[in-house]
Amino acid sequence: MSHYTLVSKKSMAAQDDPILENPELASAMREGTKVVHRAAESSVFTKKFLKGDITKDEYGQYISSLYFIYSTMERLLRSHKNHPVLQNICFPTELEREQALLNDLEFYYGKERLPELTSPLSMTPAVKAYVQSLEAACSVDPLLLVAHSYSRYLGDLSGGQILARRLKKHVLNLEKDDASWDSEDGLHFYQFNNIGNHNQFKTLYRERLDTLQVNSRTKAMIVAEAIRSFELNIAVFDEIQAISDAKQLKPTMITDDVTKPTVSTWLANPLYVASAGIAVASVGLIAYQRYVRNA
Ligand code: HEM
Repeated sequence: MSHYTLVSKKSMAAQDDPILENPELASAMREGTKVVHRAAESSVFTKKFLKGDITKDEYGQYISSLYFIYSTMERLLRSHKNHPVLQNICFPTELEREQALLNDLEFYYGKERLPELTSPLSMTPAVKAYVQSLEAACSVDPLLLVAHSYSRYLGDLSGGQILARRLKKHVLNLEKDDASWDSEDGLHFYQFNNIGNHNQFKTLYRERLDTLQVNSRTKAMIVAEAIRSFELNIAVFDEIQAISDAKQLKPTMITDDVTKPTVSTWLANPLYVASAGIAVASVGLIAYQRYVRNA
């Protein structure tokens, strides 16, 4: 008899709580987290992010925090990938963010700083509390990971995509008309390359939530854990703001006043135009010497 069969038999017998025929978990989670979602949207950090007012160092702190959260959540989800119920909402290929976060950390801080940034010693108190809550929830019932997966991944595929546009425009100083607008540099976290249409995927995810085999007690626990997950996120946002206010952010490699040269900034700068002119003239001269004079 498998570990999962043993656990589910034991809990069924103990609770005498039948599996719900139509658990409607997706709408229960959406309704249950409505108030706390609004609180998350109105935290100082998210409001600043939404206005395009965050700095590169604040964003760097954000992804440094997310690294520990996602690596823990994804390790736990992977370790229960054969769980008969949980496996229905496990989409490692489509959703996992750990590698994307590592790529972005490298972009903002440089490769040499990765060991320091990803060392558990770098975990701040709110991040540590989040990670411990993930572990604790999973040991109570791996199905509580549904709540954490829901709040982070559906959030990344919803409001997260709005934040990604703010990041491009106000933090990375990219312009919609630039070829670099579609670049993935520093933006891997928000790019889900193995998902076609985001809305279709969110619909599929919600359909899966609605068919999870849970009893009413587990359903209530998952909704409560989703609310808890939002609260843990808010605590992380507040912590980033507090670190920033205390001027204790680790500096990223890219300073805030450095803008990526765009086509318009190149054309507006006579030095760039002159350099481009010299480069074109030199290439022309070499070509002339090589082909015309030798003809
Ligand atoms: C400025 C911040 C935020 C904005 C503007 C925002 C915006 C949105 C929007 C517009 C939707 C609806 C998308 C849809 O129906 O397809 C949504 C859904 C969602 N958001 Fe946020 N959000 C923000 C912050 C957050 C945070 C911090 C979290 C959690 C960590 C989060 C988690 C979710 C979840 C789980 C959903 C899916 C709700 C459902 O359909 O059940 N959001 N968000």
